[in-house]
Amino acid sequence: MPEPQRTPEREEFYTRIATGSLAPLWEVLKTIQSREPRPPEVAALWRYDEVRPMLMEAGRLISAAEAERRVLILENPALRGQSPPRITHSLFAGLQLILPGEIAPSHRHTQSALRFIIEGEGAYTSVDGERTTMRPGDFVITPSWTWHDHGNETQEPMVWLDGLDIPIVRLLDASFAEPGETDVQTVTRPEGDSAARFSNNLLPVDWKPEVKTSPVFNYPYVRSRESLDTLSRNGDPDACHGHKLRYVNPASGDFAMPTIGTFIQLLPKGYATRPYRSTDGTVFVVVEGEGESRVGDQLFRWQPHDIFVVPSWMPVSHCAEGESVLFSYSDRPVQEKLGLWREQRGNA
Ligand SMILES: [Fe+2]
Repeated sequence: MPEPQRTPEREEFYTRIATGSLAPLWEVLKTIQSREPRPPEVAALWRYDEVRPMLMEAGRLISAAEAERRVLILENPALRGQSPPRITHSLFAGLQLILPGEIAPSHRHTQSALRFIIEGEGAYTSVDGERTTMRPGDFVITPSWTWHDHGNETQEPMVWLDGLDIPIVRLLDASFAEPGETDVQTVTRPEGDSAARFSNNLLPVDWKPEVKTSPVFNYPYVRSRESLDTLSRNGDPDACHGHKLRYVNPASGDFAMPTIGTFIQLLPKGYATRPYRSTDGTVFVVVEGEGESRVGDQLFRWQPHDIFVVPSWMPVSHCAEGESVLFSYSDRPVQEKLGLWREQRGNA
């Protein structure tokens, strides 16, 4: 279909109706209803060995307490300066640093957060009265509207990736936030309590879920890695994903978080995946191994702790030099619930 022509008479009409806050849909229809997704974000890679020195510099410039959260935002290069900041159109990513002896004070907000631990071992996150100790590769959740604070009682810096649904909550204008009455919330349950109740394929007998987020708030890497290891010995990898698992809410079988899907996959040594694309723009964190990923027409070489983003509907394929593990997250749960999610395997 040809574009509607702009005639002087029409231009005059558009100008006149604009004073009444009206506009012609036919001038913008093709932009709104594109034949396929046209995400505003671009593919990008952050090399951890380049980002880490700047994160440590931030550690000298401002305390975690003063910053409230000392985070360097991973801003998508095509979305610089946007408010709220974002790595894809719908999701936030940042790297958070807590130095020995520091705390990040208690607060809560309607945005849901995931932590994926990059570096350091033994700092804690508290969620609604229970602490969990964080180790590299652990996936930790702070559900919407739960009190959370972080502290590092170890001798080493602690770094994790923060993944949040900030732009989604902003889209819906449903943001609420509140500071805690004290910097460090009172611990009311011993560490491991929620794991005992919810993590062993058991649930408390009369328990009914009241929220949509998983009651498991730490998925330790040692356990997900063991599953991947067993899978890789027992069967062939998927052509597009290698051996890939999703984190699950044991109360519902759904994704662990209502707005963010989280995944972990193992690529065998020397394995090259076929191209794949889906409508959920995805953030990848390299946990183990070295290799490269082709994202659209770009080739990203990666090593542990590097982070890269694949925009919606852009083909991605991975090639692992050594056995590699990738963690990833996206807005897939939201798209699936709205009936919007699509994928294309192989010939994208
Ligand atoms: Fe927070």
